[in-house]
Amino acid sequence: MTKLIHVSRELEKKIGVVRAFIPTMGALHQGHLDLVDEARALVGDNGEVVVSIFVNPTQFEHSTDVSQYPRTLESDFAQCEARGVDIVFAPTVEEMYPEGMGTEEHVSVQPGPLGSVLEGADRPGHFSGVLTIVAKLLNLVQPEFTTFGEKDYQQLALISQMVQQLNFPVKVVGVQTRRESDGLAMSSRNAFLSPEQRIHAVSISRALYAAQGIEGNIDVKLSAARAVLSGEIETSYLVAMTNDLSSELDGTDDVHEGRLLFAGLLGSTRLIDNMPIVNVNSSE
Ligand code: PAF
Repeated sequence: MTKLIHVSRELEKKIGVVRAFIPTMGALHQGHLDLVDEARALVGDNGEVVVSIFVNPTQFEHSTDVSQYPRTLESDFAQCEARGVDIVFAPTVEEMYPEGMGTEEHVSVQPGPLGSVLEGADRPGHFSGVLTIVAKLLNLVQPEFTTFGEKDYQQLALISQMVQQLNFPVKVVGVQTRRESDGLAMSSRNAFLSPEQRIHAVSISRALYAAQGIEGNIDVKLSAARAVLSGEIETSYLVAMTNDLSSELDGTDDVHEGRLLFAGLLGSTRLIDNMPIVNVNSSE
């Protein structure tokens, strides 16, 4: 039976039990459930799977975005229960930030150089908010494993960096992006798209598939992607980076390894997606 708890002191862990943890902001979809399944596979039937549901105000730039974020605790809990989650931790803002939420009021984690490019360039302070809440949650839950979706690839890279560089005793496991049948990456934000926007949104994954599938250097791949993207989408970035996101790949390079990353606005909804660069000629 799944336990729903709201206060952190009830998170106490039984000695000898292996835990895997999935931090979420709720509005769960199949992509989150894949993270739960991976967590269960990591800890086995005798281990514990913990999901947190917390819309973290410090990672949003505008308070209206926080208040508009979907809150669906009842159905999220039902999905966790059906998936065999052991504990759902749904704290209040006061529970997580008793000192207040301004950076002058509490200690925060600063992401370093990777936090100010791509998503970080467009959303100042976002990754400090993400890393701070993830650090707090990891310390409260004390899991052996934590699973994150590759959909938020830069977030996954930054959390991996934080865990490694600040010596958190947890293994970060990335899980492949779950897609709708037409290829659109699953996201809680897709709910904000009108039926017409939903049709344009699919061009994002098609663009990345086009880049993946074409033989040629990085410039050729990115041009192939641009040709497929819907004109309704205002591109924020479309880039090819090394896998660890430490540098952008040179346009004239003919590389077979790295990551293609996209972000853009469709109406007022920001959509992101990414895919690995693959070797088109590979017979694997
Ligand atoms: O990816 C998310 O849903 C959030 O950024 C996270 C990791 C739960 C932190 O609030």
